[in-house]
Amino acid sequence: MRHVGIAFDIDGVLIKGKKVLPQAIRAMQRIKENKVPFVLMTNGGGTTEANKAAELSGLLKTQITPSQMILSHTPMAPLSANYSSDKSDAVLILGKASCKEAALAYGFKHPILSEEILATCADIWPFRTPIKGYEPVSLDRRIGAILSFHDSQDWGRDIQIVCDLIRANGDLRRIVEPEHHTHRRRHQLSHPQLPVYFSNGDFVWSNNLPLTRFAQGGFRHSLESVYERLSGKKLEYTMYGKPYKSTYDFAKLAIDTHGQELYPQVESHGRRYFGIGDNPESDIEGANRNGWTSVLVKTGVYEGGEHEAKILVEDVEEAVDTILKS
Ligand code: G3P
Ligand code: MG
Repeated sequence: MRHVGIAFDIDGVLIKGKKVLPQAIRAMQRIKENKVPFVLMTNGGGTTEANKAAELSGLLKTQITPSQMILSHTPMAPLSANYSSDKSDAVLILGKASCKEAALAYGFKHPILSEEILATCADIWPFRTPIKGYEPVSLDRRIGAILSFHDSQDWGRDIQIVCDLIRANGDLRRIVEPEHHTHRRRHQLSHPQLPVYFSNGDFVWSNNLPLTRFAQGGFRHSLESVYERLSGKKLEYTMYGKPYKSTYDFAKLAIDTHGQELYPQVESHGRRYFGIGDNPESDIEGANRNGWTSVLVKTGVYEGGEHEAKILVEDVEEAVDTILKS
């Protein structure tokens, strides 16, 4: 099985809500017995690969290493190269507080959370009291990029802060200091736009409720609309996560690295890559678009009807059996 590699989606394939699917535990056992190189690849995130690998190792009763864990923001790690020294610009990280831990682990030297900007100047978003426990940030360090790692915890706050930072070209003083008021018009986009990155394009996701919840893609649509109304320009940004190429390239390398650990003497050349997922728009589209074999399961988002998957199966156990026989 050295010339097969698999990327498993997590939500709707291995995990359902907060519970692990029994088929997933059996599928993992078979993968280990057959020494198949694999990764877990999710559009979720908001934590470190080490934390998520430890959590899933327990749930799936099999050892998953951090390098086999591809969260939506994992392929963004190399972006830290431009922001990794004491003198580098800071970066704004959108998402829950634990995203900062992930950013530090990737090598970003000065990651900042939106709530820390509110701790610096509550008037930026004056419609609620800032959350206690966040430290103010320095006004002297420019914010050089905006990276959305995970779902925004407060759309209003984050839309305001992102629009402010783009207009002020990352200079917090221009946002908070009153003497800058007279120059307000000159701050309107006479400069190249601050780089903006999103880790997940999913518009909605499902939890225990009957109607879908907005995912990071919902926040992005909202931000784009407000920004365009404000500036008259389209928001420029780069996407990561499934179904985008950067994420599949990253996953291929991670599978090949795992393959090297299992078969040190064997080249990865000629390996066939399979993507098992439940979401036709991210998992199946991503696998098809990037030259992988797409395998769709029925335990998650997909509920029947038309689909573009190469292989359709009931669940992840059948998916693995089908791949092993191929
Ligand atoms: O987009 C939200 C996230 O829950 C999707 O997770 O594992 O199905 O890619 P996953
Ligand atoms: Mg899924």
